Amino acid sequence: MWRFSGTIFWLAMLIPGKLSLKLQYNGDQVLHIVPETFQQVQHLQHLCSTLLLDLWKPWLPEDIQAGEDLHIRVPAPLVQEVKDSLDQHMISYKVLISDVQDLVVQSMAGERRSQRQVPGDYVYTEYHPMEEIYQWMTQIQNSNRELVTQHYLGMTVENRPIYYLQISQPSDKTKKIIWMDCGIHAREWISPAFCQWFVKEILQNYKSDPKTSRFLQNWDLYVLPVLNVDGYIYSWENDRLWRKNRSPHMNGTCYGTDLNRNFNSSWGTIGVSYNCSSQTFCGSGPESEPETRAVAQFIERKKSDILCYLTIHSYGQYILTPYGYTTTPPSNNEELMYVAEKAAAALMGKYGTSYEVGSTSLILYSNSGSSRDWAHMIGIPFSYTFELRDKGTHGFVLPPAQIQPTCEETMLAVTTIIDYVDQKYFPDGAVTLTSGSLGLSLSLSIVLTWAVA
Ligand SMILES: *[C@@H]1O[C@H](CO)[C@@H](O)[C@H](O)[C@H]1NC(C)=O
Ligand SMILES: *[C@@H]1O[C@H](CO)[C@@H](O)[C@H](O)[C@H]1NC(C)=O
Ligand SMILES: *[C@@H]1O[C@H](CO)[C@@H](O)[C@H](O)[C@H]1NC(C)=O
Repeated sequence: MWRFSGTIFWLAMLIPGKLSLKLQYNGDQVLHIVPETFQQVQHLQHLCSTLLLDLWKPWLPEDIQAGEDLHIRVPAPLVQEVKDSLDQHMISYKVLISDVQDLVVQSMAGERRSQRQVPGDYVYTEYHPMEEIYQWMTQIQNSNRELVTQHYLGMTVENRPIYYLQISQPSDKTKKIIWMDCGIHAREWISPAFCQWFVKEILQNYKSDPKTSRFLQNWDLYVLPVLNVDGYIYSWENDRLWRKNRSPHMNGTCYGTDLNRNFNSSWGTIGVSYNCSSQTFCGSGPESEPETRAVAQFIERKKSDILCYLTIHSYGQYILTPYGYTTTPPSNNEELMYVAEKAAAALMGKYGTSYEVGSTSLILYSNSGSSRDWAHMIGIPFSYTFELRDKGTHGFVLPPAQIQPTCEETMLAVTTIIDYVDQKYFPDGAVTLTSGSLGLSLSLSIVLTWAVA
């Protein structure tokens, strides 16, 4: 499998203290094709399957459609062969990424920056290896003890701890919960970067920004920066484009389950592969993976308090609503769409980045076993997947220079959703009334009482 799926060639690289094998992507290209006819679609499906090309969009050869974008990574040794074949079939293509390795190297910039991290000096505009994210979580807790606690969620396949941060202002009041997870797919590095940015912003602003502080009176935030810890580490140390977790299958002849196909939402029924070599392998059963179970069991326990589930992925620029496994919309579809449209508009207001909004099955492709579908199915009303920047220009290897603008604009979308659920579930606003607002609120409540009577 390796011979084809990455580039033929492995390099032994000496990193201080350990020997690691790193897959190189020198000369690999990502091609953008929009097939026009059914014959072209068939040829492309054949090409992708026989040469085992890495599909970036869509995820499965059977989802390739006429008139729809196709992004494929072609290993360097096959680039000429693939282009010749496309020419022969009169399929036009554009080169999206002319050398994947250039972007891979860029995304790791700062890798050799050594241990200069001191508390308060964390660089949010770089991607960080797992070890630094673990340290960051501890530091964030230690320097914000009044607000942040770090909690253990479970173990990965390779026995690494998964932690989430709870941002919670002490209060007698029963609060509701917003859950956000990042790093389900290893190579989508912008996702963990956003979770960290989000935490930073909340901590920086909650004292000065009335909205954030009001919000923390009603809600606790649970943020899981990296769910797929093993996969994330593997993407730093072995293969930048690794997607799945690291569970061994078929006696260790292939690795990894797509955690976002592994949840118990119509598991294994559509848009998945049963072949463990595939990027979309759904596992041996619903919640077969310890990472999936850790999240699912925790959320299941807290589900009556969790009203909003946000899961952050890349790429494509979408806010996706349930469902992916069926085209039948959820009962609160209209409201979900309304809020997502509002969020996308707020996001666009920052840098003009345009997002599409809709259910996966309607605007992308169908797939079962996603965490977003599952969260909605167990009763969490507001459940969204974010697919962050970009639209394929850099794909999974978004340059670090785009971390800041991506996080800034995404922050606006996320806070729009949070504002909406806050107004909806806590319409009377903050619990503490100042004497100034008391009069108004008293007269309001009289009007309300009258109206209800
Ligand atoms: C797995 O590998 C071991 C050791 O090579 C072997 O003894 C065993 O029979 C294999 N099992 C299967 C199911 O192939
Ligand atoms: C999956 O959900 C079904 C009901 O929808 C339930 O019967 C089954 O026990 C669940 N499986 C797991 C692993 O949670
Ligand atoms: C799984 O996929 C790999 C690579 O695509 C292929 O070589 C292998 O034959 C497939 N295995 C099965 C059981 O279909």
